[in-house]
Amino acid sequence: MANDTNKKDSFVLTGVKPTGIPHIGNYIGAIKPMIESANSNDFAGSFVFIADYHALNGLKDAKLLNEYTINIASIYMALGLDTNKSFFYRQSDIPEVFELSTILNAFTAKGLMNRAHAYKAAFEQNNSDEGINMGLYTYPILMAADIVLFGVGKKVFVPVGKDQVQHIEIARDIVVNFNQTYKQEIFKHPEALIQKDGEVLVGTDGRKMSKSYGNVIPIFGTEKEIKSAVMGIKTDSRQPSEPKPDYKDISIYQLYTNFASETEISEMADGFKNGKLGYGDAKKLLLEAITKYFKPYQEKYLYYKNTEAGKKELFDKLENGSQSVRKIAKSNLNQLRKIIGIN
Ligand code: TRP
Repeated sequence: MANDTNKKDSFVLTGVKPTGIPHIGNYIGAIKPMIESANSNDFAGSFVFIADYHALNGLKDAKLLNEYTINIASIYMALGLDTNKSFFYRQSDIPEVFELSTILNAFTAKGLMNRAHAYKAAFEQNNSDEGINMGLYTYPILMAADIVLFGVGKKVFVPVGKDQVQHIEIARDIVVNFNQTYKQEIFKHPEALIQKDGEVLVGTDGRKMSKSYGNVIPIFGTEKEIKSAVMGIKTDSRQPSEPKPDYKDISIYQLYTNFASETEISEMADGFKNGKLGYGDAKKLLLEAITKYFKPYQEKYLYYKNTEAGKKELFDKLENGSQSVRKIAKSNLNQLRKIIGIN
């Protein structure tokens, strides 16, 4: 496992697929910890990129893909990703990723792809390959390239949710094969930094917050959108005056703990315990807390996403990021090309 000494000379890298509008569950579970690790000084360098070619596998609407990309980039900038500390770029701006992906194809057993979860899940839906494109099938190879392009002689840590751990293991298998073939440790083994459970937010219906359940609260929605999501949170039929010693299981409370201050949180707990707080009023408190929490970021978000000056700044940042990243990418790829005899 990672200890601080080897983190210092390692990279941390993470990719975000622009496939939708993130919600507060994505924020707490992924975006916030990602920005924190990217901004920290724990690593020798950090990489945050928009995995737009990964998104293409499932999203063939050009306008939407473009919109989601700008949206995601604006969100990371607005929420405080520090581009002085981390490389922020679009995958599509780094042609070396795609060349490496082609190289890695030759070191990836087909059977390994057959076993990849995303492909298996898609296959099992109809017990057939119908509707499955090669981009989805070889997704783990491209993802391995995203990571290990920077893993030449360097350890790369990848903060991921549990669903992505298999992809990191596949990346490791691929580079093990590569290293064994050329009898040298060219790539260091990439390693997942697995995010803890418990950082999964409940949605408005009590299930895990997820776009596919339609139970989400948007991060930068309009006032009306956020209000209707929060006020629509499902509750049981207990009266306000009924004490609720089980307050920790109440989703309003659970959500509140992520956005309110310590004092506010214990006030809500007391209110529920003592039968002094009903669900309606608790929802209003939650709405206030969420609105207050995101307000300082909202203005920045709208600046990047909707103004010409903001958009230009955003694209300049991405462009700068990709230029810096390409220097490392080119140098690593040149080494690899020599090793395989393409030079
Ligand atoms: N597969 C990741 C997801 O679906 C996105 C991703 C692509 C990624 N390439 C990556 C994540 C490299 C970490 C590292 O969320």
